[in-house]
Amino acid sequence: MSENGGMYILATDQTGQEHRLEALEGWSMMEIMRDFDLNIKAECGGCMACATCHVYVDTDWLDKLYPPQDEETDILEGEAFAVQENSRLSCQILFTEELNGLKLTLAPGTEKDA
Ligand code: FES
Repeated sequence: MSENGGMYILATDQTGQEHRLEALEGWSMMEIMRDFDLNIKAECGGCMACATCHVYVDTDWLDKLYPPQDEETDILEGEAFAVQENSRLSCQILFTEELNGLKLTLAPGTEKDA
């Protein structure tokens, strides 16, 4: 029995495999994926300096998120590969109850050996 009411996110890795990951309020999407051992580099550990936690957020979920700060947009534009409209840094999205079931996909360039 999970202790958090069964809240989760659905994360698709760089090989196209989808993972259902138990999610806790206040944790970043990056931390959740890292904890479940997905192949995510997250080199800077969440301080918005690397873009190796770049994800594509399913467009149905985009307007449930706080919009990115200018700094996040700058890092995405400067550091990330294959940036799209729905690109975000997963270390800047904190899980809340409203995001239960959120879908995202790890972008190319986020692999640990990239
Ligand atoms: S972990 Fe480095 S920017 Fe997110």
